[in-house]
Amino acid sequence: MDTYAVFGNPIHHSRSPYIHALFATLTGLSHPYKRVMAPLESFEHTLWHFFEAGGLGANITLPFKERAFSLCDKLTERGLLAGAVNTIKKLPDGSYLGDNTDGIGLVSDLKRLHILRQDSRVLLIGAGGATRGVIQPLLAYGCQIVLTNRTFSRAQKLVDFYHSDISALPLEQLRTPDYDLIINATSTGVQGNIPILPVSVITPVVCCYDMFYQPGGDTPFITWCRRHGALICADGLGMLVGQAASAFLLWHGVLPPILPVLKILRAEL
Ligand code: ATR
Repeated sequence: MDTYAVFGNPIHHSRSPYIHALFATLTGLSHPYKRVMAPLESFEHTLWHFFEAGGLGANITLPFKERAFSLCDKLTERGLLAGAVNTIKKLPDGSYLGDNTDGIGLVSDLKRLHILRQDSRVLLIGAGGATRGVIQPLLAYGCQIVLTNRTFSRAQKLVDFYHSDISALPLEQLRTPDYDLIINATSTGVQGNIPILPVSVITPVVCCYDMFYQPGGDTPFITWCRRHGALICADGLGMLVGQAASAFLLWHGVLPPILPVLKILRAEL
């Protein structure tokens, strides 16, 4: 039986089973992992059925991370702060622990790329679940965040939740190149689209990171950044592997190697 699985809708595109199979090979641990297409109206039922049948751990992807959050008995601090859960572990006492490893996946990838400093000024675009997962780890690293979003009120609402080092600005007020790092956390890439930003935020020295990735090269956001002069750009493939590695760590107590897996995925993308 597959004791680990990723739940989403849609899910056919998910690279998680492949990544986890590589982790299993590299660590030598038994780690059967499958993908599960959860119907929108019965995600909870599908998840419980999996655990009742012997499941030990689940990854949760779009659009269920907030619903998964409300199902867990216990939460890690980063899961609690994110308000969204991408990893669930069934504990020996039968209770469910929810975690969010997206932020640690992002921070570890930014560090790997040498584009994150403890005093980085970060422009974070988006105010959905993907954004919520990464704010706290970036703040904890020491960054200052300006949050912007198409619907400004959502950005403002998120910022109100935190006490310091984060503020919200409407997209049209982002006039000056005040940032070291720009992170696209919107879902625009899925639609083949980009968030509308003033060109003036792009400079040759600003680093541009898209949490989205796609086969065949640059994402629409990275293409746009490069066109306007950005020289240092990266997509979210490394974040994907990083968040998976931290889920594996929560389940097995072993951090699998990230770099060889990332190399394989990149070569096959
Ligand atoms: P996720 O869990 O992936 O973050 P979400 O909660 O639906 O998904 O949030 C999607 C984010 O992408 C939001 O910040 C959304 O902006 P709005 O709050 O204005 O909806 C942003 N987004 C989606 N499509 C966009 C577009 N075409 N242009 C700009 N932002 C977009």
